This record gives sequence, structure tokens and C-alpha cells, in this order.
Amino acid sequence: MILLLMALFRPNSSSSDTITATRSIMDGNVLVSDGGTFALGFFSRGGSALRFVGIWYSKVPTKTVVWVANRENPLKGTSGVLFIDSLGNLVLASGNGSSPVWSTNVSEPIRGDSNPVVRLLDSGNLVLFQDVDEKVIRWQSFDYPTDTLLPDMKLGLNRKSGFTWSLTSWRSDDDPRPGNSTYKIDPTGYPQLFLYKDGMPHWRGGPWTGLRWSGVPEMTKKYIFNVSFMNDQNEVSIKYSVTNASIVSIMVLNSTGTVSRITWIGRDQQWVTFWFDPKEPCDYYNPCGPNGNCNPYTVDQFMCSCLPGFEPKSPGDWYLRDGTGGCLRRNGDSLCQSGEGFMKVGNLKLPDTSDAMVDMSLSLTDCEQMCLKNCSCTAYASADEREGGSGCLTWYKDLVDTRTFSNVGQDMYVRVNATELALHLEKNGGRRNKKIAVTLSVTGTLLLLLLVPVVILLKRRRATGKRTQWPATTFLSSNASPVNFTDSTQTKELDQTSNSDAGLPSFDLGFVTAATDNFSFENRLGQGGFGTVHKGTTSDGTEIAVKRLSEYSGQGNEEFKNEVNLIAKLQHRNLVRILGFCFQDHEKMLIYEYLPNGSLDTLLFDNSKRYLLDWRKRFDIATGIARGLLYLHQDSRLRIIHRDLKASNVLLDAEMRPKISDFGMARICGGDQIEGNTKRVVGTYGYMAPEYAMEGLFSVKSDVYSFGILLLEIVSGKRNSTYYHEDCSSNLIGHVWELWQEGKSMDIVDKSMGGEDQHSRKEILRCIHVGLLCVQELAADRPTMSEVLFMLGNDGFLPSPNQPAYIIRGSRVRLDNSTSDGTCSVSDATITVVEAR
Ligand SMILES: *[C@@H]1O[C@H](CO)[C@@H](O)[C@H](O)[C@H]1NC(C)=O
Ligand SMILES: *[C@@H]1O[C@H](CO)[C@@H](O)[C@H](O)[C@H]1NC(C)=O
Ligand SMILES: *[C@@H]1O[C@H](CO)[C@@H](O)[C@H](O)[C@H]1NC(C)=O
Ligand SMILES: *[C@@H]1O[C@H](CO)[C@@H](O)[C@H](O)[C@H]1NC(C)=O
Ligand SMILES: *[C@@H]1O[C@H](CO)[C@@H](O)[C@H](O)[C@H]1NC(C)=O
Ligand SMILES: *[C@@H]1O[C@H](CO)[C@@H](O)[C@H](O)[C@H]1NC(C)=O
Ligand SMILES: *[C@@H]1O[C@H](CO)[C@@H](O)[C@H](O)[C@H]1NC(C)=O
Ligand SMILES: *[C@@H]1O[C@H](CO)[C@@H](O)[C@H](O)[C@H]1NC(C)=O
Repeated sequence: MILLLMALFRPNSSSSDTITATRSIMDGNVLVSDGGTFALGFFSRGGSALRFVGIWYSKVPTKTVVWVANRENPLKGTSGVLFIDSLGNLVLASGNGSSPVWSTNVSEPIRGDSNPVVRLLDSGNLVLFQDVDEKVIRWQSFDYPTDTLLPDMKLGLNRKSGFTWSLTSWRSDDDPRPGNSTYKIDPTGYPQLFLYKDGMPHWRGGPWTGLRWSGVPEMTKKYIFNVSFMNDQNEVSIKYSVTNASIVSIMVLNSTGTVSRITWIGRDQQWVTFWFDPKEPCDYYNPCGPNGNCNPYTVDQFMCSCLPGFEPKSPGDWYLRDGTGGCLRRNGDSLCQSGEGFMKVGNLKLPDTSDAMVDMSLSLTDCEQMCLKNCSCTAYASADEREGGSGCLTWYKDLVDTRTFSNVGQDMYVRVNATELALHLEKNGGRRNKKIAVTLSVTGTLLLLLLVPVVILLKRRRATGKRTQWPATTFLSSNASPVNFTDSTQTKELDQTSNSDAGLPSFDLGFVTAATDNFSFENRLGQGGFGTVHKGTTSDGTEIAVKRLSEYSGQGNEEFKNEVNLIAKLQHRNLVRILGFCFQDHEKMLIYEYLPNGSLDTLLFDNSKRYLLDWRKRFDIATGIARGLLYLHQDSRLRIIHRDLKASNVLLDAEMRPKISDFGMARICGGDQIEGNTKRVVGTYGYMAPEYAMEGLFSVKSDVYSFGILLLEIVSGKRNSTYYHEDCSSNLIGHVWELWQEGKSMDIVDKSMGGEDQHSRKEILRCIHVGLLCVQELAADRPTMSEVLFMLGNDGFLPSPNQPAYIIRGSRVRLDNSTSDGTCSVSDATITVVEAR
């Protein structure tokens, strides 16, 4: 008997990837997948005695459990054993012949002669095969996700059997037992992605738009994942695959009810969050009630507004900033066969489609007709946003849980009465070919975001006073003042002890004047688009940098202080720290930490100094900048688009660590207001993405463009703006592109970096490659900063870049490089785009 048991429960000393009828796994043993990517074994968490069987990445040092077998029924003690029972099921029991705590529970009996086998595949899938030939799958762990979605795992459901693939959070970080958040696709109406907490909708990803979830504009599928979405009579599901099997990237629903996409960065040996939701108040389910829209970018600080034609249900609550009651149609509003029509609301997450109707065969025009005919139809939209839009979604009840995104999102057409329609057409009339973004005010009256024609004035170094007039284009504003921020009262004294809630310390003008020796020329550190920067030394010897803003802020004083206080809350090791501000006698100044090594351009572009930056330092600088920018784009609450990233805005501390400066300046200087305030857009010649320079459209992707330029400058040690090659036919990017196509990219590398070893060479080539991906002409083709960081930090496959901007179209080349006097060199001073009304 004992012998028999020993044979049955024989521990396998060499780690294997299979369990068979004669080979079981005991606590202490691990199963390792063929390629060594995953391991299966027993574990406990948080010092608890409870034992679980789980799968984790065997190569990731922070033990990241991606699947748990017996999460509902933990073992007590280490006597557990995992084996195949006589009915052909994989079973977990505590060793003494006790009843199973977990089983694969396949009810179908096996044939008498079959010999089932369990194998841990290199994809992380634990599969129970009917027989050793491994042809028929009896059960697989991929069908029973826990809190983690691995690549190639499905999320969704089988419409026929009702079987679902969903995620359920752990109870806590240390407790794998099922928690109370779930993440799944809800097939009711038009299928949507939902995150539920305690059974209630917590966050809604919305319907699939053909490219992404309506509520997840960050979703991209180019660089690291490709996504396949399926919706037919049998199944609704989504599956993420990685473009290279060695990429370690998972989606996790954590115990606090946040779903995030995290990716392992080999170089840094850490997980990096690429995306997570919910992030901000507008993300939670239905924050503004029925027919209310949540817009975190409103000028008047309350995020809720009513959709066109609606008004707050209880104005008192709205006044007190509680939007949950939602909005109602105005009394007596006639919306049936009385000349009504539709008004477009742009950049949206579409409303809850649980009771929407869909007809994929209709065009948008037919959709409008259909909705117009049925008096209970409240709104319509394109169901699929690919190729200009197709399919027809219509709503018949309240419009629930919409929100505005800054510069992405879908259009929805809301039914409004004849009066409102006429008003809308009138406001809108005569503006051809222009994108309209609609914002809604608290009262529900519509504020059209009027497109402000701008004229870009380009100051050229060689031709001072001579201006190049760019064609009048449109400036589409999107980000604006933040929500709910109360400012501190201004103190006139130096008050560095004030706590963070009270806001940033306000410095006395006399103090700043003294510290900078009355802004003496000797203390001047530089001049930027927003004003001058002076070095200062306080009486206790602390060194500070004082940015004295030019007079042109279009903002009021309170707004200014609000903005500065908000920006000061952004803290990251790759961002320059704001210590305080001075705001007195028409002076507006920001006080920063002083960084001894100055700005990157003063080293990188200086023949006598750039040898100080060897490749290792340069690479660290590049990744540091990428991290800082990623924080601004994604991690910080404000989600700042820098808009003026360049070498002179990257400062170096004593250890040569990069710190981005001038972030949030567009906000501070009021360049980003939705209403008439728009005075200027800023950017720097040579770093400006084409869509931003030409059309005033900015997005995170325009920052990615600037980062790409910076990356190529770091590698080459040359300025994009002053670089010219032979006959002005191309600038630095153009030249890099030509060399890259000829397979000679290394020719561009700055020789003063010193001898490169094989490893550096690979990294350098990688940086050039990533740089070229960042400067592609189409913003949509460019990677996001999280993808950039990923690509810089991991080896492996990179897609081929398309031709960069500024050299495809002849006009852009000329705009860029040739002036009438034949010089190629242009100043890299910040360009100001001035409103011309
Ligand atoms: C299993 O047997 C061992 C030793 O025979 C004993 O120490 C242990 O408590 C038993 N476990 C259970 C769950 O009965
Ligand atoms: C297996 O099936 C039994 C009976 O249907 C059920 O009580 C048990 O919870 C199931 N176990 C697992 C692990 O699903
Ligand atoms: C859900 O989890 C939270 C946090 O652990 C807890 O406070 C709450 O009581 C849980 N709700 C239910 C229904 O279990
Ligand atoms: C994703 O891309 C990889 C490599 O390009 C390809 O092999 C795979 O079939 C794709 N998967 C899906 C689901 O499209
Ligand atoms: C869950 O994830 C969010 C976002 O990444 C994070 O802020 C939060 O702390 C996490 N919660 C836990 C318990 O890890
Ligand atoms: C139409 O709507 C507007 C504003 O939404 C309202 O002022 C007006 O009274 C309505 N007109 C009719 C005829 O219902
Ligand atoms: C309008 O559409 C709804 C929902 O599809 C339908 O129930 C209703 O019968 C339609 N009304 C008319 C007049 O067609
Ligand atoms: C995938 O990445 C690995 C290393 O990360 C690399 O060696 C391999 O060449 C890549 N495969 C492809 C197809 O690019």
C-alpha cells in the first residue's frame, strides 16, 4: 500500500511540463513549460498558511501569478497533491486521500484505454488532453481565466452555451480568493465591455467600434499587440495577441477594481503600466446621470453638462455640483414630425448600448432617416468607425454614461427640436470643411467651440523681421481648465512650510528680486518662448531657477494660480520640480529647483562638451525623457500634452538625469482655453509635428513626434532645425531616413560618443529605428509613449517605419528648409501661433 502510494505520488525531481496518470505534483514541486516561460506550483501569499495552485511567469523575478486553480477552496498546509484521477480529471487534494478541493470536473467519461496527460504550454495554458497523442482537449485553463488575461486568452462569451470568459479580481493583493470586481463582455443589446463592482457597473468600456472599445481611446494594436474582435451568432469575444512571443504583457483586474495592461520591461526589470481604467471621475459609470455628459475639460469647472435639448433635472443639485440626477427634455418640447433634426456631439464615448438597436447594413445617412422617422429615437451614431464609418446604432431611451475625450472619440447625433436645430445651423453656417467640436455648458445651452483661424508667425534667425505667413488654418482646442480646484489664499511672505493642501508657496517679489540680484544679466540662464529664466540664490544658499513669464497670459489671476498649483502637483523624477510662484505687481514668475548641468542642448550640440555624454548616458537620458513624457501623457491626473518638447527643455541634474521642464506651460499661459481666450499655440520649429504645425491639431502623438526628433538628435549630436545636408534637400530626419533605407544608419551616429561595443551598437540602431517610428507622417502610425518605452527597453522585433513627415510632400520641405536667401538654418526659438481675429 505504501509502495503504491509512493509510486502514485512520486515527486518528480527534474522539472517537467507534464502530469500523467503516474506522475503527480506535490507541494514543493513545480511544472515548467517547455520554453521555460511559465511555471505551475503551490504558493501562498501574505504570510498566510493557505496554499493555492497557480501559474506564474518563471522568468519574471517578481512572482506574478497569472492563474489560480483552487481560489475558492484553498488548502490548509503543504500536504497538497495535484494528480489525474481515475475518471480522467485533474484533481487537487490534500494528500491523505481526502476529498478533492478542486477538480477540472469534466463529466464526460474517458475511454478505458485512454491515457490522459496534462501539459503546461509555453503560452501559460494548462491543458488536459484526452490521450498522450494530445489531440483532443478535455479541459484548458484558458477557458477559466482568474484575474489575468494572458496573450491569446479570450474575454467574452459563447452565445449558444452561455459559457463566459471573464476576469474576477482577487480579494486583496495577498488573497487570491475571488473578490468582488468582474470584467466581462455583456451581450445585452449591442455588446459592450463592462467592469462591475459588487455586481453594479463600475466602468464601461462601451461597444466595439471596429478598432477599439468606444471608451478606451488609448487602445492601439500596432506595435505590441494585435487585437481580434469577434461578434457573430456563436460568439462575442476579444483576444489580444503579442507581435513577438517573447513580449510579456498582461491585462489584470486588481483587487481595488482597476483594470490595467502591464508589460514587463526587461531592461528595467519591472512591470510598466501601459493603460488603466477607471482613471478619473468621468470614467466611473454614469457620473452625470441620464442624458448628462461628463466632460473633464470644461472651462467652468463642473464636469457635468446636459446633452443638447436637455436641462438639469434638479438644477439645485447641479448648482451644488452633483450631476447624478441627470437631465430631462424641456417641457413641451416637440420632437415629433415638427421640423426637428439632429445635432452632432463629437469626441464621445457612446452611450450605453444595452438597449440600443444596431443595423450594420445602413449608412450614416440612412441611419439618420431611420431615426428621424421614429419619434422615440433619441440619437444615432455610426456603429463601426473604420473607413469613414458604417453601420447604424440608434437609441430610444435615455442616453446614459457618455463622456468627452480630448481629441479622440466618436460622433453622436442627438435629436433636437426645430428651434435648436435652426440655431445650430445658423451658428454653424458658412464654415466649410471644418471640424466642429461641441461642448456643452451647465445649463445645457450649447457653446460651439468656434474654430479660431490662426496665422502662424515664424521668426527666423537669419531674417529677423521677415515673417513667413502660413496659410490660415484652424486651431481645435481641447484641453482646458481642470475640475474642482480650490486655490489657496495668496501669501505675501516666503512661506515654504505651507502644506500641500494649501497649495504652492507664494514667494514675495522682493525675495525673488534679491535672490536673482535684480534679474541681473549675469544670472540669466536663458530665454524661452514663455519668458526669461534666471538663476537665484536664497539667503540660506539654496539655488533656484526663476522663470519670469512674459506678459501675454490671457488668463485671469485666479485661473493662473489654479493652473500653477495643479501643474505643481505633477511629480516625477524626470520632471523639473516647481517650488513656488511669485505673482505680484503684474509679474508672473515660477520658481523651480535649480539643475546644475543646464539643458541638454548646451551639452549635446557643443563640440567641446558633447564627449561628456557617452552612449550609456545618452541612452539613460533618452529613456528618462520617455518616462517623464509618459507620466505627463498617462499617469498624471491632468494628462498633459507638453507641446514644446526639445533639447533645451530637458535639464540635467548633477547625475546627468534628465528632467523635463516647461510642461504645462500651455495651461499656465492660457494657451489652451476653449472659449475665446485662445491666444497662442506654442511649439518649436523642427520639433513640431506636421498636423500640429499645419492644422493646430495637437495630441499625445505630436509629443511623440517631438520625442522622435529629440531621440535622433541625441544619437546624432546634431540639431534637426539647423542640420542640412548638401542642397537643403532634407533635414536631419530626411537624412537619417535616407541612410536607414540604405542600411547605413550608423553613419549618422555622433562620433564623439567614443568606441561603441556590440551591445551599444544594437541599442543605437534600436534608438534610430524607434526615432523613425516616432516621426512618421501620420499621427496614427506613431507609437504611444508607453510603446516607445517598451521598444527602448526590450529587444525584439520592431515594425518598419513609414516615410517620415517633412520630406514626403514637397511643400513641406520648402516650408521647412528653404528660405529665399538660400539658407537652411532656422532658429529653434519657440514659435508662437497667434490668433488673428
Ligand atoms: C496528513 O498526514 C500527515 C502525516 O501523516 C499529517 O501530519 C497531516 O495532518 C494530515 N493532513 C490532513 C489534512 O489530515
Ligand atoms: C465540480 O462539480 C461539483 C458538482 O457539480 C461542484 O460541486 C464543484 O464545485 C465543482 N468543482 C469545480 C472545481 O468546479
Ligand atoms: C467588496 O470589496 C470591498 C473591499 O474589499 C469590501 O469593502 C466590500 O464589502 C466588498 N463587497 C462585497 C459585497 O463583498
Ligand atoms: C498577430 O500578429 C502575429 C504576428 O504578426 C500573427 O502571427 C498573429 O496571427 C496575429 N494574431 C491575430 C489574432 O491577428
Ligand atoms: C490597482 O491598480 C491601480 C492602477 O494601476 C493602482 O492605482 C492601485 O493601487 C492598484 N490596487 C492594488 C490593490 O494594487
Ligand atoms: C426648442 O428647444 C429650445 C432650447 O432647447 C427651447 O428654448 C424651445 O422652447 C423649444 N422649442 C419648442 C417649439 O419646443
Ligand atoms: C420606434 O422604434 C422602437 C424601437 O425599435 C419600436 O419599438 C417602435 O415600434 C418604433 N416606432 C415606430 C412608430 O416605428
Ligand atoms: C522576438 O524577440 C526576441 C527577443 O526579445 C528576438 O530574439 C526575436 O528575434 C524576436 N522575434 C521576431 C520574429 O522578431
